[in-house]
Amino acid sequence: MKVCVLAGDGIGPEITAEALRVLEALRSDGLKIEFEHALLGGGAVDATGDPYPEATSKLAREADAILLGAVGGPKWDTLPREQRPERGLLRIRAELGVFANLRPAILYPELANASSLKPEIVSGLDILIVRELTGDIYFGQPRGIEVRDTPWGEQRVGWNTMIYAEEEIRRIGRVAFEAARKRSKRLCSVDKMNVLECTQLWREVITDMAKDYPDVELSHMLVDNAAMQLVKAPKQFDVVVTGNMFGDILSDEASMLTGSIGMLPSASLDANNKGLYEPSHGSAPDIAGKGVANPLATILSAAMMLRYSFGDEASAVRIENAVRKVLAQGYRTGDIFEPGTTRVGTKQMGDAVLAAL
Ligand code: IPM
Ligand code: MG
Repeated sequence: MKVCVLAGDGIGPEITAEALRVLEALRSDGLKIEFEHALLGGGAVDATGDPYPEATSKLAREADAILLGAVGGPKWDTLPREQRPERGLLRIRAELGVFANLRPAILYPELANASSLKPEIVSGLDILIVRELTGDIYFGQPRGIEVRDTPWGEQRVGWNTMIYAEEEIRRIGRVAFEAARKRSKRLCSVDKMNVLECTQLWREVITDMAKDYPDVELSHMLVDNAAMQLVKAPKQFDVVVTGNMFGDILSDEASMLTGSIGMLPSASLDANNKGLYEPSHGSAPDIAGKGVANPLATILSAAMMLRYSFGDEASAVRIENAVRKVLAQGYRTGDIFEPGTTRVGTKQMGDAVLAAL
């Protein structure tokens, strides 16, 4: 398997390095895997003027899977939108057609105190958010900012378009129903159908699909209520399916229930399980280069890569068990540190995972 590695900006290179060490350890145990590195995000802008250069696009298209660190940082915040690092991320997602973004939020028992919610509310939490990733208001046309006549006189207006085609809803619905089938057979679809036509269509299509999955119990929730329920009684959820924008917001919220966004991996899959794997967190410019970032989300993303793109469940579980073990041993990066545990840096955390492997 050929893996395209896009370390990106900020803490991206540090955390990716640890995930690569883990994969290399599995390679010496017989895993057939090759790496090719390329530029994405701010580093790519600096080197080529383009956050997603053609050379990167070519490698990503040829690879079997992509492992990504994180992109962005204050250095590039004032650039025009097309050159912003995030644009590179959105373009690679769109070009590869990785429409199904799986974001698990699992509370490891050892981290129950790191959550901002009471342990009894979050203990045992295991949610899978299935976020549509290549449509919605993120990509909808028309969009823009221009001067227009308004009730307040001539001034700038900004606008975007929330849009989904039925098939776009159906294909992400299929991923979610199938995932629910493999878990507790409960699926909650999140929309805002009381206000937005686009999500009224979403609800109609998902409701219609339920007849093909009689074994899955489907419920619907409006997004504002879902945001509230996630902090009130998060364990009522198992698999959640939603659009790109709502999924972006709810997955950050769900991640905090688990104590740290630094623990959460993600997989973005196309129709053939080619995938882009990245931690759910960003490039954390404030701690970049200091060797203190938590590499576990990226290491767990590598596990998801083995599971979904390599079909190697055994190796995925091996990595996940190693992560559980280092948490049980008391190793903590700063984001999940609490008195009585052992504070370690990025590389030491990687060392601990390798030892546990
Ligand atoms: C995420 C991020 C991205 C998104 C940004 C960086 C474009 O927040 O992966 O959740 O909004 O999708
Ligand atoms: Mg986000």
